[in-house]
Amino acid sequence: MPHTKLRWGLLSTARINRALIPAIRAAQRSELVAVASRTLEQAERYAHEWSIPRAFGSYEAMLESEDVDVVYISLPNRLHAEWAIRALRAGKHVLCEKPLATRLEDVDAMITAARENGRVLAEAFMYRHHPQTLKVKALVDSGAIGAPKLVRGAFTFTIARADDIRLDPALDGGSLWDVGCYPVSYARYLFGREPLEAHGVAVRGASGVDETFVGWLRFGEDAFALFDSGFRAPERMHIEVVGSEGVIVVPSPFKPGARETIYLGKSSTTLEPLTVEGPEQLYLGEVEDMEAAALDGAPQRISLEDSRNNVAALIALYRAAGMR
Ligand SMILES: NC(=O)c1ccc[n+]([C@@H]2O[C@H](COP(=O)([O-])OP(=O)(O)OC[C@H]3O[C@@H](n4cnc5c(N)ncnc54)[C@H](OP(=O)(O)O)[C@@H]3O)[C@@H](O)[C@H]2O)c1
Repeated sequence: MPHTKLRWGLLSTARINRALIPAIRAAQRSELVAVASRTLEQAERYAHEWSIPRAFGSYEAMLESEDVDVVYISLPNRLHAEWAIRALRAGKHVLCEKPLATRLEDVDAMITAARENGRVLAEAFMYRHHPQTLKVKALVDSGAIGAPKLVRGAFTFTIARADDIRLDPALDGGSLWDVGCYPVSYARYLFGREPLEAHGVAVRGASGVDETFVGWLRFGEDAFALFDSGFRAPERMHIEVVGSEGVIVVPSPFKPGARETIYLGKSSTTLEPLTVEGPEQLYLGEVEDMEAAALDGAPQRISLEDSRNNVAALIALYRAAGMR
C-alpha cells in the first residue's frame, strides 16, 4: 500500500526545528513521527517536550527505521552533505537546511545520491515558496519596473551566544553561509541567471568566520546585486529591486508573514503599497512542496541546479574575499 501521508523525522534537535514542527503539523499530507539526537536522553526529552511519538538516540537509528519517509536535516552546515547522503541511501526523502552544502563536490554527491536512490532532495529556502516572493518575481518578469538593473539586499542580526554554530569555522559558520545566502538567492532568482563576477570583503571575528560580509555580483553589462550580511549589527532584512523604469521595495523579504506589504512605483518617491497574503506558517510551503514532489512526483519549486548555483555563487564570493 503506498503511503498517502509523509512520515517526517527530525534529524537533530536544532533550534530551527521549532519553525518546521508546526508546519509539518499544519500540512494535510504530513505527520511528524520521530526525532533523532546524538544522545537518547536528549532525543527523549525533546520528543516529550514537542509530543513527538518516537525518539532515536542516534541519527543512524532513525535512518534505519522503516517508519520514517522523509528526514529534515537541521544540522550545522558542514554536516549537511554527509547526513543527506546517508539518508538518501537509506531510502529517505530529504529536506535539508540551507545552504545545501558548502562545497560543490558535496552538492554533486548529494544530487547523485538523490538520483541513484530515486528520492527527493530539497533545500529548505522557505521564503522561495511564499506568495510575496512569487509576486515580486512576477512583477519583475512582467516588466513592471522595466529591465531589472540592481537588486540591493541585506540580512543581519546580532548573535547572542558565543558558542553558536555560526561562529565555528569547523562547522562552516560565517555570515555569508548563514544569512548572506538569502539576498544572493533572491538576486539570482529575480535576474533568472547566474552571476558573471563576484566581489566581496569579509570582516572576520575572533574565530575566523566572516562576521560581516559586504559583496556584489555582476549579472550582465548593467545588472548587479549588492548586499551585506552579518552577525554584529541590528536585525535587518531588506530587498530593493531597481529597474530601468521603476522600483520595488520589499521590507520583509526573507521571513514574510501572513499579510505583507511591498511597494511599487516609478520612483522611490512615488511608491504605492501592494498587499500580499500568505500562509500563517511561513515554513508550510517547503513542506507542501516536499509532499507534492515525494507523493505526486511533481517538479520541485527550487531545482537542485538552482541550489547548486547558489552554493557556487557563495563560494565565488568567499574566494573574492580571500577566504577559500
Ligand atoms: N531556514 C531557516 O529559517 C533557518 C533558520 C535557522 C537556521 N537554519 C539552518 O539550520 C541549521 C541549524 O541551525 P540552528 O541554529 O537551528 O542550529 P542549532 O540550534 O545549533 O542546532 C544544531 C543541531 O545539530 C546537532 N549537531 C550535530 N553535531 C553538532 C556539532 N558538532 N555541534 C553542534 N550541533 C551539532 C545538534 O543536535 P543534537 O544534539 O540533537 O544531535 C544541534 O542541536 C543550519 O544549517 C542553519 O543554516 C535555517
